Amino acid sequence: MAKTPPDISNEQVREEFFELQTLLWAANREYHTQDSPSIADADFDAAKRRYLELVDAFPEFRKVATQLSAIGAPVSDTFAKVTHAVPMLSLANAFDDQDIRDFDDKVRRYLGLRDKQVLRYTAEPKIDGLSLSLRYENGILVQAATRGDGETGENVTANARTIADIPYRIEDAPTVMEIRGEVYMSHADFEALNARQAEAGNKTFANPRNAAAGSLRQLDAAVTRPRPLRFFAYAWVELSDSLADTQIETIERLAALGFRTNPLTRACDGPEEMLAHYADIEAQRSMLGYDIDGVVCKVDDLALQRRLGFRSTTPRWAIAHKFPAELAWTRLEGIDIQVGRTGALSPVARLAPVTVGGVVVSNATLHNEDYIAGRDADGNPIRGGKDIRAGDRVQVYRAGDVIPKVADVDLSQRPEDAEPFVLPTVCPECGSDAVREEGDAIRRCTGGVICPAQAVERLKHFVARGAFDIDGLGARQIEMFYRDDALPIREPADIFTLAARDASSLSKLQNRDGFGEKSVENLFQAIEDKRNIPLDRLLFALGIRHVGEVAGKDLARHYLGWEPLTKALDKARPAALAWRMADAAEATERDAATAEDRRARIKEVRDAAIAQCDVPEDATAAWNDLIGMDGIAATVGLSLSGAMANAEERAAIDRLAAELAVQNVVPRNTASSPVAGKTVVFTGTMQKMTRAEAKARAEALGAKVSGSVSKKTDLLVAGPGAGSKAKKATELGIETIDEDGWISLIGDA
Ligand code: IVH
Repeated sequence: MAKTPPDISNEQVREEFFELQTLLWAANREYHTQDSPSIADADFDAAKRRYLELVDAFPEFRKVATQLSAIGAPVSDTFAKVTHAVPMLSLANAFDDQDIRDFDDKVRRYLGLRDKQVLRYTAEPKIDGLSLSLRYENGILVQAATRGDGETGENVTANARTIADIPYRIEDAPTVMEIRGEVYMSHADFEALNARQAEAGNKTFANPRNAAAGSLRQLDAAVTRPRPLRFFAYAWVELSDSLADTQIETIERLAALGFRTNPLTRACDGPEEMLAHYADIEAQRSMLGYDIDGVVCKVDDLALQRRLGFRSTTPRWAIAHKFPAELAWTRLEGIDIQVGRTGALSPVARLAPVTVGGVVVSNATLHNEDYIAGRDADGNPIRGGKDIRAGDRVQVYRAGDVIPKVADVDLSQRPEDAEPFVLPTVCPECGSDAVREEGDAIRRCTGGVICPAQAVERLKHFVARGAFDIDGLGARQIEMFYRDDALPIREPADIFTLAARDASSLSKLQNRDGFGEKSVENLFQAIEDKRNIPLDRLLFALGIRHVGEVAGKDLARHYLGWEPLTKALDKARPAALAWRMADAAEATERDAATAEDRRARIKEVRDAAIAQCDVPEDATAAWNDLIGMDGIAATVGLSLSGAMANAEERAAIDRLAAELAVQNVVPRNTASSPVAGKTVVFTGTMQKMTRAEAKARAEALGAKVSGSVSKKTDLLVAGPGAGSKAKKATELGIETIDEDGWISLIGDA
């Protein structure tokens, strides 16, 4: 949490300072939003001089004043990065009524509420725009930041100040407040903007959301100014004084402070009322004049929201109930094969362009060969068993951000000469065999990094957002460098040797497509800046199958450094191999008569296979530690371990690691945590919170929660009815406290 600015004692100076600040802001705003500022340049300069004098003389003002230094400053060529004081998360999704009832069940179970107790929620439209975090200090908007990757966003303060719905000065606001909401564009404004753009020969936008994002993320705020952006406030992360005890009242207070809040926000008692309000909102959807893609449901009581807390990327106290997808019919002109990062051969539909929910769609996914053939992974028919062929009339489906897909086919319109689709068994990019393993729905190219498509896709992933995110090195440049024989980038390590290789003779890069002296320098600097990389990003960037952003974070939090992680993986290798053999054995057991039979047989086969391999004990321990981590399933463990054990891949990873300084993990949120790094066991009944809640809180504070007491246990929390665990803890001399002791230990941490 950011610090509250100190109280400034000298009332008069303080008053003068804030008066000047207001005056300067108003003038600045006029300058940016109108052509005729109401204050003469000389007066503006005098006021600014006095203001800066005060800032110089009273360091207390500096924090509040930093943003003002931008007044009259030249436009920079990139946005400054902002690390969010509290990460900007996303929401879990619900797709039907049952998902909402399940959400309510889970929330109540987590809180340990009795069956009859009806919980109050709020339900409000989910605005299809882009989220923005607004920080106010002493009532002045000092920072506006986009979501970015959730942890770091872009500083778009100057642009946000041009948006009429965003107050830049608030009377009677808490000293510090950070408000979140959605920037969006209305349908009418979007149409008019596109018409203006087209007339001026500029690019038009695909939909209102893109138009809003493109308009907000302008380096020159003067371009944002005439763009008709709007803003709804719906959340907050920091408030030096709480505004109210419930979600709905806080939203009302925000409206009173001058924010626009959505008029369809309602309090709802229990899931059935939420569903009724969802139906209401859906019925009004087409008349709202702006895009919404669902309804967000939130637990109303803020104390309960705090108890529920967060999973790794989503709050437990909220869910997004999405609207059903939008549909359209068109002709399937052909089926192309794309080879992805992990070698997957993906059939892609080439469509006669069609508008679906306001976006022109000409490509859509067809998933895999089974999907095209009209069956699911278990061989059961889908779409009533209808297959899809080039030439067919197909239904295209799109939901929000989701890649459009082909959902249905109209057999009555099938051309007579339409041929069934056959997925190639060799890779169209490199000619290697494309193999479909037992139990996998996907056929994959076996070329590994020798397949140019795989190598290029991996590199693109490596430099993408969330991974290394290197400015000036995007998908287009990767394509270029991959094919460049003078200065190639064929594996990640090559990125970091690029500057040295280029410096060895006359710069080969300069004067090439889109590269001038300055941009070469910038690129090398951007690469240099990323040598120092957080562990979780590196793990995600490697592009190992199943190791996504969440797994990357989980692994980083667990192993804390690159060295311990690689050592543990090397140690676990024999156990991983045994597991893989057992997996193969399992695959032969798929035909067993009943599911139960099958499970029993699989266990037998797996145990026998593992027993056959002479796995050292420490390997088993390292493997169990890996897959025993929250969120790391055996599939992730196998894939990770497989990549590290593959000689070629490992060599490439080692070459990369040698170029980097990988940052160790300092557990977040736990600097002041009394239980960080401790192993805690809960036993007996908890009365003020449920076991799940206690566990989640402890983990959020950096503790490891274990189910059994051992020498490694640091703390036992024992409620009434505690039995053998408490006894064992006493024997081992482990500190034992009760629930109240636990609550006072973790306090408000
Ligand atoms: S509440 C902790 N309320 O949806 C997250 N989000 O899928 C709190 N969004 O990133 C978010 N309308 O950009 C909330 N009424 C609403 C919303 C809303 C749109 C967006 C927001 C968020 C995304 C999550």
